[in-house]
Amino acid sequence: MNSDILPYILQPMRVQDIPEVLEIERVCFSMPWSAHAYRYEIEENTLSWYVVARPAPRQAERGLLGKILNLRSAGQPRTPIIGYGGFWMMVDEAHISTLAVAPPYRRRGVGELLLLTMIEEAQRRGAAAVTLEVRVSNLPAQRLYEKYGFTVQGRRVRYYSDNGEDAYIMTTPPLRSASYRETLEALKARLYARLSSEAPPVAQ
Ligand SMILES: CC(C)(COP(=O)(O)OP(=O)(O)OC[C@H]1O[C@@H](n2cnc3c(N)ncnc32)[C@H](O)[C@@H]1OP(=O)(O)O)[C@@H](O)C(=O)NCCC(=O)NCCS
Repeated sequence: MNSDILPYILQPMRVQDIPEVLEIERVCFSMPWSAHAYRYEIEENTLSWYVVARPAPRQAERGLLGKILNLRSAGQPRTPIIGYGGFWMMVDEAHISTLAVAPPYRRRGVGELLLLTMIEEAQRRGAAAVTLEVRVSNLPAQRLYEKYGFTVQGRRVRYYSDNGEDAYIMTTPPLRSASYRETLEALKARLYARLSSEAPPVAQ
């Protein structure tokens, strides 16, 4: 499937992206990570992989206007970051450490696209499964993970220090199983069909 047809671009997170990431981080999480934490993840942690999502430049922005606005820098489109995610490879398991979409861009499939991309990257890196922790109260995120086959495998009591909330541990089925591969392909085809019929969102 061709990602060029999508109204979003996904790119590896770079140090220059951190200020934009932190703006989203602060509105999404009660215990936001610091710039230092992201810098460590990008520059030093060899087991981590982080990705950002941006709206694809619109047709007009790709031409003359794009040159004027300098939207392209070294071939990289530079529309605003609207979401991001990342994981750590822990032996043969990928552990999703973060996933967030800026509030004005939610419910358009961006979180799903980021999650799918992370699962695919985890597959490429040889992960047997993908796992994560999620607040027991965070129903939107749980619904997203369930859609991608994650099930609750355990509970970490008082995992979040800000309010003492428990976390569910959610994990995918084995990534190498034929049935999960089929599930993922079907979800990807449906997501791409949905997204490719949409124009890139206007920056908010
Ligand atoms: C969780 C989050 C990343 C989802 O991003 P999003 O771009 O809005 O999600 P999508 O539009 O891709 O939704 C994909 C699926 O997730 C589920 N979902 C997402 N938001 C939902 C909501 N508010 N209520 C119910 N289900 C929801 C649905 O199953 C949806 O599939 P559908 O479109 O077929 O109904 C976003 O709500 C967010 O950034 N939340 C704050 C940060 C956070 O909690 N991160 C997760 C930490 S573990």
